[in-house]
Amino acid sequence: MQNTVLLEKLQGIVGKTNVSTSTADLYCYSCDASQIRGMPDFVIRPDTTEQISEIVKLAYDNEIPITPRGAGTGLAGGAVPVEGGIVLDMSSMKRVLDLDLDNLQIVVEPGIVQEKLNAHLEPHGFFFPPDPGSSAMCTLGGLIANNGSGMRSVKYGTTRNYVLALEVVLADGTVINTGSKTMKSVSGYSLTDLFVGSEGTLGIITKATLKVRALPKERSVLLASFENPELAGKAVVKVLSSGIVPSACEILDSNIIQAINAYDPHIGLPKAGAILLFEVDGTENTVREGIVMIEDACKSLATNIRAAANKEERDEIWAARRLVGAAVSRLDPMRTRVYVGEDVGVPIKEIPRMLHKVREISDEFGLPIMTYGHIGDGNLHTGMCIDVLEDGDWDKLNRAADKIHLTAIEMGGTVTAEHGVGGARADYLELELGKALDVMMIIKKALDPKGILNPGKMGV
Ligand code: LAC
Ligand code: ZN
Repeated sequence: MQNTVLLEKLQGIVGKTNVSTSTADLYCYSCDASQIRGMPDFVIRPDTTEQISEIVKLAYDNEIPITPRGAGTGLAGGAVPVEGGIVLDMSSMKRVLDLDLDNLQIVVEPGIVQEKLNAHLEPHGFFFPPDPGSSAMCTLGGLIANNGSGMRSVKYGTTRNYVLALEVVLADGTVINTGSKTMKSVSGYSLTDLFVGSEGTLGIITKATLKVRALPKERSVLLASFENPELAGKAVVKVLSSGIVPSACEILDSNIIQAINAYDPHIGLPKAGAILLFEVDGTENTVREGIVMIEDACKSLATNIRAAANKEERDEIWAARRLVGAAVSRLDPMRTRVYVGEDVGVPIKEIPRMLHKVREISDEFGLPIMTYGHIGDGNLHTGMCIDVLEDGDWDKLNRAADKIHLTAIEMGGTVTAEHGVGGARADYLELELGKALDVMMIIKKALDPKGILNPGKMGV
């Protein structure tokens, strides 16, 4: 079908103003925060499931790639249309469809922003726990498609743990519903789990029923300083095996501490080889007890331990933690943060060894690596900044990232514990998953025989 005929058909489905082919728009939808690029042919802003079903049918009949996109905050190219075709901008579909708090759940459209969802829940005393650094921007559809997590997953788990049911448009336009409103179900294969984390390669999520939790009454933060990241890693292993489950357990290395203090001197994080930020939430008693248990577990390894003085300091610390991605470029204005190899995960026992390895890799390539992240999950962000005009820097960056990925796999870990495979990590899946990747390919072929759904992603 000619592009002009296709354009008319798409306009017929969603209206003229909701289809764009302007170069400026197409360019805006050609990237995320990774280095992966791909120009779409059409950007479409649907408003209903029925419209999406019709668009997908058209794409299916004409074998046109179709890539759903939330806020485009991804770091692995997941929403980049590397084979062109249609980008479905889901941001218009952002309604709360049902607030069903007696059932501890909420039904939403995928375009709703994480923070907006929580703003909706907060007055009722509830919250949706998954809390990535991009909460102010990222959409629930993106979170579900990537099984996003963030700072609270050490206690509350990942997005997967909160998705009870989904409405999904399949590759031929068929609309299905997976899961149910019950807290448990073993009826058939867990298709809900299959779609969570499938990065738009198996179907397009158009509605989600999410579990919510009651807001904890108290939250307290503890800052523990260490001579180096490995000692901090050892403290994490001790804390986690001591029986306390912190609601956050984050590491910041010396470079990150310096970057945050340069970004906002008011924050004044203590100078150290590394800091661990622990949060405990719950009732007053559980918080008090948890803080004491963490102090006990850390004290033989830490150089200093202190609690945040008050709520203001606690909130400032978390706000500072959210700034890390932007703050690292303050360390050297000639260097730019490049997201590549930035979210490996390792088993808990391997945390200290991984932190040590990252330092070795940094020395080997003469490339500063700024380490931070959700260390309580064994999930590390290894931030690297380079002079993007220097070919030599790119080479060092790619080789260092490759070594970080391979080291994580050797330790029985994963190349991506949070940000997704997208196009950035696809090459590692065979090594990490072995024959399980063949099974993934069979599933992909069965659900998307023409390969139109977000092609070029996830190694399938
Ligand atoms: C964070 C993002 C990078 O944790 O995942 O800040
Ligand atoms: Zn993160």
